[in-house]
Amino acid sequence: MERMKDKVVLVTGAGSGIGQACAELFAEEGGRVVVEDIAGDKAEAVAAAIRERGGTAVSMQGDVAVAADVERMVAETVRQFGRIDVLISNAAVQKVVESIELLSEEDWDRVIDVNLKAAFLLTRAVVPPMKQQGGGIILFTGSEMGFIADPAIPVYVASKGGLHMFMKAIAISLIKHNIRVNAFCPGETNTPLLQSEIDNSPDPAATKAAYDAWAPIGRMASPREQAAVALFLASDESSFVVGSTFLADGGFTASI
Ligand SMILES: NC(=O)c1ccc[n+]([C@@H]2O[C@H](COP(=O)([O-])OP(=O)(O)OC[C@H]3O[C@@H](n4cnc5c(N)ncnc54)[C@H](O)[C@@H]3O)[C@@H](O)[C@H]2O)c1
Repeated sequence: MERMKDKVVLVTGAGSGIGQACAELFAEEGGRVVVEDIAGDKAEAVAAAIRERGGTAVSMQGDVAVAADVERMVAETVRQFGRIDVLISNAAVQKVVESIELLSEEDWDRVIDVNLKAAFLLTRAVVPPMKQQGGGIILFTGSEMGFIADPAIPVYVASKGGLHMFMKAIAISLIKHNIRVNAFCPGETNTPLLQSEIDNSPDPAATKAAYDAWAPIGRMASPREQAAVALFLASDESSFVVGSTFLADGGFTASI
C-alpha cells in the first residue's frame, strides 16, 4: 500500500524509537521523509537506511526546543520538497526523580521546552505553508502519561497533559484550514528511552518484567505498532478524526 504516496513528512526525534519507526513506515508507504533529530548522526543513519531500501529520506539536525532551529528545518523541508504535508512532532525527553524537591529548575525547563514548547514552535512554523497549500496533518506523540500520573516523572506527566490540551485547542481552530490535528498516545513501548530506564534501574530484570506486566495485554508495544497508529491518523482513512488523543496502551488506562 502507498498511503503516504508523495507526501512530504517531517518526523522529529526520528533517530530512535517510535520516531524512527514512523520515518521507516511512512517511507515504505511512499512518503518523502525528513528524519529530524538533535543527534544528527542518528538521523542520518536512519535516513541512509531508508534510502538503501529504495525510499526517499533526508536527515536534519536540530533542537526542537529552539525556535531558530525549528524555523530553519521547516523552511529547508519546503525548499527541498516544495511543501510539507505531515508533521509528526515526536521528540521528547524524560526526567525520573525520587522526590519532587530533587527536580532541578533546569530539568523542569528542559522537559517542558522539548516536550511542550516545541509543539508550539513546530506548529507555528508549519501552519503557514500548510495553509498556503490547502491543508495538512499535524500529529503529536502524546502519552498514556497525559491521562494518568506517575509520581516518578512529574514534569514529563505535566508536559504530556499540557501537550494533549494544546493539541485540542489548535485542532479546533485549524480544521477550518483543512489542517487536521491529533495526538497518538503510546503506552509502554520498547524503545531506547524505556530501555535506558530499565538498564539504569537497580534490578533491570525485575523492571523489565514490571513493564511487561504493566498493561492487561501483558507485554510492551513495539515502536512499529505505535507507528501504525500514527500512519492511520496521518492518512485519509482517519479523515473524521480531529482533536483526538488516540491511545495505544495495551488496555492500561482502561484498567485503572
Ligand atoms: N517509549 C515509551 O514507552 C513511550 C510511551 C509513551 C509516549 N512515548 C513518547 O514517544 C515519543 C518517542 O519516544 P521514544 O521512546 O521513541 O524515545 P527515544 O529516546 O527512543 O527517541 C527520542 C528521540 O528524540 C531525540 N530528541 C531528544 N531531544 C530532542 C530535541 N530537543 N530535538 C530533537 N530531537 C530530540 C533523541 O535524540 C531521540 O533520538 C516521545 O514523545 C515519548 O514521550 C514513549
